[in-house]
Amino acid sequence: MKVAVVGATGMVGEVMLKVLEERNFPISELLLVASERSVGKKLTYKGEEHMVIGLADAVAAQPDIAIFSAGGDTSLEWAPKFAEVGTTVIDNSSAWRMDPTKKLVVPEINANELTVEDKIIANPNCSTIQMVLALDPLHKKYQMKRVVVSTYQSVSGTGVKAVEQMENEAAGIDGEMAYPHPINRNALPHCDVFLDNGYTKEEMKLAREPQKILDDRTFSVTATAVRIPTAGGHSESVNVEFHNDFDLSEVRQLLSETPGIVVQDNPETNTYPMPVFANGKDDVFVGRIRRDETQPNTLNMWIVADNLRKGAATNAVQIAEYLVENNLVSKTSQTVS
Ligand SMILES: NC(=O)c1ccc[n+]([C@@H]2O[C@H](COP(=O)([O-])OP(=O)(O)OC[C@H]3O[C@@H](n4cnc5c(N)ncnc54)[C@H](OP(=O)(O)O)[C@@H]3O)[C@@H](O)[C@H]2O)c1
Repeated sequence: MKVAVVGATGMVGEVMLKVLEERNFPISELLLVASERSVGKKLTYKGEEHMVIGLADAVAAQPDIAIFSAGGDTSLEWAPKFAEVGTTVIDNSSAWRMDPTKKLVVPEINANELTVEDKIIANPNCSTIQMVLALDPLHKKYQMKRVVVSTYQSVSGTGVKAVEQMENEAAGIDGEMAYPHPINRNALPHCDVFLDNGYTKEEMKLAREPQKILDDRTFSVTATAVRIPTAGGHSESVNVEFHNDFDLSEVRQLLSETPGIVVQDNPETNTYPMPVFANGKDDVFVGRIRRDETQPNTLNMWIVADNLRKGAATNAVQIAEYLVENNLVSKTSQTVS
C-alpha cells in the first residue's frame, strides 16, 4: 500500500508512525504530510528518514490510504480531494463523524459495515472509543437505557501545545497557553469548545457517537468532560442503567471475553485502571465494576485507555488493516460533497 500519514508531525501522527511500524502494516511507499510550516522536515520510520511534504503533493501522489490527524478544517478541505483521486481516507478529526453518509468505526464493533465504496471513514472521538468498546457487549446482553459519563482527560488529547503548557507550568516557565487557564495542578471542566446548549463539543461527541456506532438510538448518553494534568490516557467514570438486570460476575466475564478489553478489578490488591498503566498500550482497561445501589439495573465502572493509541492511532490502523485484509481498498475515484 502507498500510505499517506497526514498530520505526521503532531501528537497523534507520531504515535501513528509507531503503531504502523509495530504492526508491520504493509507499506510500499510512505508519504509524511503536514502543514507548510513543516515541509522539508525529516521524520524517521523503520530507521529511514522521510521528508515531510505538503497536502497538494500528497494528493498528486495518489496514495491507496491516507490517515488524517490534522484537525477538522484540514479534513473537510482535503479528504474529498484524496477521495477524488481514489484514496481511501481514515480521518481522526470530528469533521465527518456525524455525516450520515460516512461510517463511524470501532473495528471490534462495526468494521463489518465497511465496503469498497467508503472513501472517507471516520474514527470516533478518543473518549467515545474506549467507552463504547466496554458498553457494546453489555448493551447486547442487558440493553442500555441511559449512560452518565464523567471524563478525566489527558492533556495529550489536545495536542502538542497543551502538553507543552503543562510541562512549562510544572517547570515554572512562562509559555504559550493552549487552555484559557493553568492546567498543572488544576482540573478544567472544559474540553473542546462550548456550544449553545451549555455542553462542550466533546460532551456532545460522547452523547451522539455511541448511538451511531452501535446503530441504536434507543439509549441516551449525558456527559461531563474534564481536562486534568495527566499525559498517559483518558479515564472515565461511567454509570449505565440497563433495561434488564445483570449479574456482576457475568458482567466481568463478558468484559474479559471482549477483544481489546482488559479487566483490572481487585480492591483487595488496589488493582484498578490508571493512565500510568494504560499509557503506551492498545487495550482498554475496565475496573471498579460495581452495582449502583441507588437504582435498579444500574452499573458503575471506571474505564481507562491511551487516547493516542486505541483512542486514535491504533483504531485508525486497525481500520486500515481491516480494509486491506478484506480487499476494500480500490483506486476508484469518488466525488465527495
Ligand atoms: N490527541 C488525541 O488524543 C486525539 C485523539 C483522537 C483524535 N484526535 C484528532 O487528531 C487530530 C490531530 O490531533 P493532535 O493531538 O495530533 O494535534 P497536534 O499535535 O496539534 O498536531 C496537529 C497536526 O496537524 C498538522 N496540521 C495542522 N494544520 C495543518 C494544515 N493546514 N495542513 C496540514 N497539516 C496540518 C500539524 O502539522 P504542523 O506540525 O506542520 O503544524 C500536525 O502534524 C485532531 O483533529 C484531533 O482532534 C486527537
